[in-house]
Amino acid sequence: MYIGIFDSGIGGMTLLHQAMVLMPHENFIFYADTDHVPYGTKTREQVTSYVDEVIRFMMGRDCKAVVIACNTATAVAAELMRSRYESLPIIGIEPAVKPAVAESMGKRVLVVATPLTVHEKRLRKLVERVDDGHLVDLLELPGLVEFAESGEFVSDNVTAYLQERLSGYTLDDYRELVLGCTHFNYFKDTFRALIPPQVHMIDGSLGTIRQLMRVLDSRQELLDPLPEAGVDWELVKNNICVRYFESGREITDAVKLDTIRQLHERLEKMRKI
Ligand code: DGL
Repeated sequence: MYIGIFDSGIGGMTLLHQAMVLMPHENFIFYADTDHVPYGTKTREQVTSYVDEVIRFMMGRDCKAVVIACNTATAVAAELMRSRYESLPIIGIEPAVKPAVAESMGKRVLVVATPLTVHEKRLRKLVERVDDGHLVDLLELPGLVEFAESGEFVSDNVTAYLQERLSGYTLDDYRELVLGCTHFNYFKDTFRALIPPQVHMIDGSLGTIRQLMRVLDSRQELLDPLPEAGVDWELVKNNICVRYFESGREITDAVKLDTIRQLHERLEKMRKI
């Protein structure tokens, strides 16, 4: 059986990559909904219908669990999908606001995400629940999704975009930067160069994969659990079974598969920042 992982695009590979390191014995289906990317600037009705279509696809492909590797899709549709497909474990990623506030030591927390995530009730409620000291600010960065989808990760345009978007914030007052969109992990090196050294970056991918492992374990469906830290990417990267799909069409083209290989290499580099 497979673990299905999906996103609007390449952002979800952040979670796939993390899952491959922690669960190299599993088989994966990765689905990028490239016909509909970006989700973050669509309506909640549109995103809900895309997510429903992907989950049905996963159910038809022998998936024992599905990971919504997209903060936007989780915010909009996770609860509805869980009530609609009760027998299927559905795990979603959320911006890591709670640990960020806990670790901020009274300094400010900046959450960056897509416009839809920022405007969704789910994130607002999460912030209300954990942000007693009114330390959290929310910032939309839809441009990063476009840069990521066009393969532009490090460039003057990316730097200028982020500089402009961050210019209204006194970054010395901040302690945590929450990457609340899975596409943003590709830009950790540029973020690192622009934010003061005391600002720590955090995202929900590790917590989400750990949650997936707990859920599978509780159903006796987790294959060969590993020690906490997982395995060395270099040792496993060529031996893990992953099938890649673009909006339902399996990717078999060698050039595209090589691009995917390069994205994994970038993510491995970003994981260590
Ligand atoms: N990667 C997605 C997220 O985590 C959404 C990006 C988009 O399609 O706008 O929110």
